[in-house]
Amino acid sequence: MSRLLDAKPNINDESFDSSLRPLSLSEYVGQKDLKENLKVFIGAALHRQEPLDHVLLYGPPGLGKTTLAHVIAHEMGTNIRVVTGTTIEKTGDLAAILSELEPGDILFIDEIHRLPRVVEESLYSAMEDFRFDIIINRESTSKSLSINLPPFTLIGATTRAGDLSSPLRARFGIVEKINFYTEDEIKSIVKRTSRVLKTEIDENAASEIAKRSRGTPRIANRLFRRVRDFANYVHKDTISYADAKQALEQLKVDSIGLDDVDIRYLRTLIERFKGGPVGLDTLANAIGEEIMNLEDVYEPYLLQIGFIDRTPRGRVAREKAYKHLKICYQQTLL
Ligand SMILES: Nc1ncnc2c1ncn2[C@@H]1O[C@H](COP(=O)(O)OP(=O)(O)OP(=O)(O)O)[C@@H](O)[C@H]1O
Ligand SMILES: [Mg+2]
Repeated sequence: MSRLLDAKPNINDESFDSSLRPLSLSEYVGQKDLKENLKVFIGAALHRQEPLDHVLLYGPPGLGKTTLAHVIAHEMGTNIRVVTGTTIEKTGDLAAILSELEPGDILFIDEIHRLPRVVEESLYSAMEDFRFDIIINRESTSKSLSINLPPFTLIGATTRAGDLSSPLRARFGIVEKINFYTEDEIKSIVKRTSRVLKTEIDENAASEIAKRSRGTPRIANRLFRRVRDFANYVHKDTISYADAKQALEQLKVDSIGLDDVDIRYLRTLIERFKGGPVGLDTLANAIGEEIMNLEDVYEPYLLQIGFIDRTPRGRVAREKAYKHLKICYQQTLL
């Protein structure tokens, strides 16, 4: 089965994601507390005519970290330079990027947890003092060179905040978690997408997509696109409830948006390991999935809806998971 519900971006999402990105804070749906904080921080920085403090955004894939980085640049009225942690291999790569920044620019480093340690360490003085030190090794001598940088804002995004070293984390003045969205919020994202893509959708069809999107805008937009195909195929330009329901069933998206990996995860945990506790490595092995994929993509939502627990002794299935799979729940005494 295709990974329709895997919140990580696939190749088809790239251009689609950017065409659907809201530009301003007022268009950015949900994340109310975070938006209120940002409004104050951005307004204050603009008043002082200073760049915004460095921002760290973390949370599961597809919830809007990259989108928010672009929104911040738009609200600050500055340029944004986008790079990924994996593409900066040497301190020299980082030096080249930093030296091209204009005063007030935003440097967005996606997957910042994947920066090599030496590069990460060279970021410290850049973030703190807008100064970059490079060591030039020539024959037997080595010389240290210090470059002054223009004041800039670093925005880092990560799905694994725990993998960030504490000195790096401590250099971000603003650290915000992006949470899963409510069904109502996802519904308004679906309706916004329908307006941008000029395809009408009935209220209850939008609700049906929202119910199955695991609180994740990227998945909602992907499901919208597939449901629209089903309607367009029979030459309809408006998506009705019946179209949505039929399409979602045909796509094998479960009533609450679980896919085959979630179901295998839960069934293995319950049937093979008696509901746990079981270590994640053992569980990942039994279902043939990568540990990191389960940790980053699947477990956050199963935890959010109360289907599993992470305990010091391992993963445990909760009663709600048994109910959803229609398996009789027998509380085991731990
Ligand atoms: N708050 C929001 N309001 C409206 N649309 C949103 C919102 N957040 C995200 N989206 C939509 O969801 C899509 C995915 O968001 P985005 O690429 O920002 O996620 P991400 O958190 O950066 O994911 P990843 O961890 O995979 O990089 C975007 O195309 C955007 O259209
Ligand atoms: Mg992103």
